Amino acid sequence: MKSLTELRAWQELEQHATEMKPQHLRDLFATDTARAQRLALEAEGLFLDYSKNRITGTTLSLLLQLAAESGLRASIDAMFRGDQINITEKRSVLHTALRAPRDKQIMVEGVDVVPQVQEVLDRMAAFADRIRLGDWRGFTGKRIRNIVNIGIGGSDLGPVMAYEALRHYSLRDLRLRFVSNVDGTDFAEATWDLDAGETLFIVASKTFTTLETMTNARTARAWLLGQLNDEKAVASHFVAVSTNAAKVSEFGIDTANMFGFWDWVGGRYSMDAAIGLSTMIAIGPDNFRAMLSGFHSMDEHFRTAPFEANLPVLMALLTIWNTNFLGAGTIAVLPYDQYLKRFPAYLQQLTMESNGKHVTLAGAPVKYETSPIYWGEPGTNGQHSFYQLIHQGTRLIPCDFIGFAKSLNKLGEHQDILIANLFAQAEALAFGKTADEVRAEKTPEWLVPHRTFEGNRPSNMLLAEQLTPEILGKLVALYEHNVFVQGIIWQLDSFDQWGVELGKVLAVRIQPELTSAGALNHDSSTNALIERYRRMR
Ligand code: F6P
Repeated sequence: MKSLTELRAWQELEQHATEMKPQHLRDLFATDTARAQRLALEAEGLFLDYSKNRITGTTLSLLLQLAAESGLRASIDAMFRGDQINITEKRSVLHTALRAPRDKQIMVEGVDVVPQVQEVLDRMAAFADRIRLGDWRGFTGKRIRNIVNIGIGGSDLGPVMAYEALRHYSLRDLRLRFVSNVDGTDFAEATWDLDAGETLFIVASKTFTTLETMTNARTARAWLLGQLNDEKAVASHFVAVSTNAAKVSEFGIDTANMFGFWDWVGGRYSMDAAIGLSTMIAIGPDNFRAMLSGFHSMDEHFRTAPFEANLPVLMALLTIWNTNFLGAGTIAVLPYDQYLKRFPAYLQQLTMESNGKHVTLAGAPVKYETSPIYWGEPGTNGQHSFYQLIHQGTRLIPCDFIGFAKSLNKLGEHQDILIANLFAQAEALAFGKTADEVRAEKTPEWLVPHRTFEGNRPSNMLLAEQLTPEILGKLVALYEHNVFVQGIIWQLDSFDQWGVELGKVLAVRIQPELTSAGALNHDSSTNALIERYRRMR
């Protein structure tokens, strides 16, 4: 396979970028009155306006040519078919099977995995209903009112994000808490006001070996036994979500209270596997199924739509353009909906653990930038903190704005004010305010440069009617496949995460050194930090 920079489309894009860099969105809009209509796409209840990107028809066709030359079609088919596209871990990548309809057949090593997926979903639903109806009782006979999910990374970020996003649909009698950090404060604050007799812990870990999760799970067991004083209580207050039954039972959780999944589900792609148990308990099985059907519709759109009318493909190609040809290093994700407050944090793992890579599938160093840094906060809060830099700073920061036409909480004029701000920010970023416009407001000359907005800042605008479980599924699947396409173009393995290993190994070595007086054999900085900690702890 040719390296990316040798592809014809890539080279033509490099040439094209030199022509595009001096162009301003003001002129692109002024010379093309149909631009907003042409550079927009509606699919699966999501509307994407991408006209405020610094692109022309030529940019788009070169990007589409790049997708074709990169073998994107074959790669999409390979993923959906269950080929082992995660080559460094020799695994299939089949999160799409988690939301496939019951009558679909998806084979992994000669076995149809759809019945297994459906069987776990049915068990989750039965369990979720028992909790929601008060039928599953705690050890002392009390109703379960608190659900504490213990997990980290993909075993935490998806569940927290989905719970916050769909809180409107949740059973308000239940309190959900999430413990992820190994910092004891996380556990202490999540449980300080809870009655153990009313609390269910979900220990969520694909491997069931993750240090943070196992430490928190052991602390949870001790906390529970501290209040209930009987080992037998563990069975009524702990369930596990994992691919590792042996480790679950070694920990002391009956595997009858375990919900399984499979090694072909990556941690950051697992929120609609059993890792979503807390979500299902909160919003109920029907809403969870609606979310899965949203995921599935976006899967089908991605799998079948021509690339020029394919939401994930277009968003990925725009990211490639902004990152590799216009030099953007980050993407701000700015949801104008308070319920999506954890969406940027969720996306950080999805995008950066997937495509934060420096070698290609063949192990060769890449000669181009890979994943941009994703970050963001819900609107309008960000407007009063970091938007200054996006508007007038020296860096190019493409933005993904996300908004909904109908609020789930209709209060006075809030929604119109929110949406006015959403549209205004995208408009200001694109078109700015010229020095002449500032002068025309009788601004003294010395102040004109400060009040001038250069504009020409690219953004996408994603709109949907209302935040529902189904729309959330579509939105998440949109980003999952967007990330997939980016990884294919950059020729990466988007499904491994070797970069998280070294720090874990070193921590295991350092931990006993913190409490001993033995000689240290690290670099001088690490040695000095350990010695200081020994004195201060
Ligand atoms: O540290 C990286 C990672 O392996 C993530 O990819 C994963 O989501 C997280 O740790 C948690 O892993 P587990 O679910 O096995 O506890």
